[in-house]
Amino acid sequence: MMVGSYWWLLLVGIGLGLLAHVVLRIRSGAAARRSAGPGQEPGSVGSPAPITRRRAIGLAVTGATSLTAGSTGWIDRGGGPGGRLEAAVSGQRLRQGAVIDSRDGRLEVELVAAPGATVAGRITSALGFNGTTPGPTLRVRPGDELALRLINRLAQPTNLHTHGLRVSPSGNSDNPFVRVEPGTSFDYLIQIPDDHPTGTFWYHPHHHGTAADQQFAGLAGALLVVPRSTDANQALPQQQAVEELILLVSDITLRGDGAVVAPSGTDRLLGRQGRLVLVNGQHQPTIAAVPGATGRWRIINACTSRVLVLHLRGHKLTQTALDGSELPAPVERDTVILAPGNRADILVRAGSVGTYDLITDIFDRGHFGTRSSTAKPEVLATLVVDGAPVESTGPPRPAGGGIPDLTTTATTFRQIGLTMLMRGGRMSFGIDNRLFDPDRDDQHVALGTTEIWTITNYGPLVHPFHLHAWPFVVLAGSDGSPPTGVAQDVVLVPARGWIRIRISFTGHGGRSVYHCHVVDHSDAGMMATVNVVT
Ligand code: C2O
Ligand code: CU
Repeated sequence: MMVGSYWWLLLVGIGLGLLAHVVLRIRSGAAARRSAGPGQEPGSVGSPAPITRRRAIGLAVTGATSLTAGSTGWIDRGGGPGGRLEAAVSGQRLRQGAVIDSRDGRLEVELVAAPGATVAGRITSALGFNGTTPGPTLRVRPGDELALRLINRLAQPTNLHTHGLRVSPSGNSDNPFVRVEPGTSFDYLIQIPDDHPTGTFWYHPHHHGTAADQQFAGLAGALLVVPRSTDANQALPQQQAVEELILLVSDITLRGDGAVVAPSGTDRLLGRQGRLVLVNGQHQPTIAAVPGATGRWRIINACTSRVLVLHLRGHKLTQTALDGSELPAPVERDTVILAPGNRADILVRAGSVGTYDLITDIFDRGHFGTRSSTAKPEVLATLVVDGAPVESTGPPRPAGGGIPDLTTTATTFRQIGLTMLMRGGRMSFGIDNRLFDPDRDDQHVALGTTEIWTITNYGPLVHPFHLHAWPFVVLAGSDGSPPTGVAQDVVLVPARGWIRIRISFTGHGGRSVYHCHVVDHSDAGMMATVNVVT
């Protein structure tokens, strides 16, 4: 009896030992594959970069700083590589970064996607275009040709989407199905139509499955369509001095060693939100103005999931445009809400001498049981008003245009459902109960027609709905918010609610996608295709 028990224990012991051995071998194998570089592990987008001497020094300096002085900007709360880099209030002047302008009807540009970008003044393994996050600002004009070579120095496939541009989605134009392998390049050629509205657009990677990781790690940039043969300020002729600024807002979480933190399962479910909220890659920068001066801020929400609820203390925000469409008339607001992907052009007339924070307030994106995706308020930037006041006639009225024709009759009505489904025993996101399949046509549309789509959200999370290539006008929504009356390209669909939009499939045919712009959700499968044919 006793002997029998001992034999049993011995056998179990040997079994456990063997099992542990096998598990350890598998795990070390996986670790080796990860550190080997192009292992395609989703969270390791930045890690395979060869650490150059300059970068090694940069990282060492970062480490030393974090040990000594929080006041210089960075504190490593957790200690070591497991900690999180945090910024103290830094308050550097807001930078505008490089601008690449079109000439004689053409913009020829090379964008190199690679790790090693500077974030908030520190060299990290965040990703950049041409070494910076955000990448350079591209300025094109209606009728231009955008010849863009994308060079992939990442460890994963990538591609590029010109978000909001009303251009062909086919071939080597704004084609979301393009796949650019690591170490290779792709030549985009995008024809901007002659009648393309001027306004604020942006670019970011769109390769299915890696888009959230790459955008979160820093890959995004501003793309402006400006008036032909004039400078951009001429749209506002009454105003002598309108300073124009781009504010590209992004968020990121960095480890103590400068690596970008991989998302947890919950992060992917709710849509990840970074601990550092940045404007043009800077943490809480300052914007200087003299009292009475008017500035035009082109604000881009380049966060993967975060909804911006913008508010400037002591000031009204005069919104003149949404998603590259001018509003029929400027609207004065206390708060401007931007879903991921949305843009707003805002006129800010500086008040009296003082400092005023631009904040993003709490937004409830919904709940899964007790897990909530509410963001806490964050200071994005600070307006510093100082000096002798200038005379100002107040926010000028913008030139007209960009108002869609609302008289066309829609011929087709569609119902689109944003749904949750199980994939491999785990909760995932889809559209009409299906996961994204790039080879399946989900909607067939006749080129030249106008349609009305009702997007219904069957889940507990808010989803920002985005359609490529053909902008839409919001007609109504379950939350009763009034229609803006202009063509936009992202709209929030309330949890367990709906919105109704009107889309004119004109200008160009082709096959493209619609999806949730919480990029974790579209990567998980909340994306579908539309094929527009004659
Ligand atoms: Cu800004 Cu399909 O994305
Ligand atoms: Cu979503």
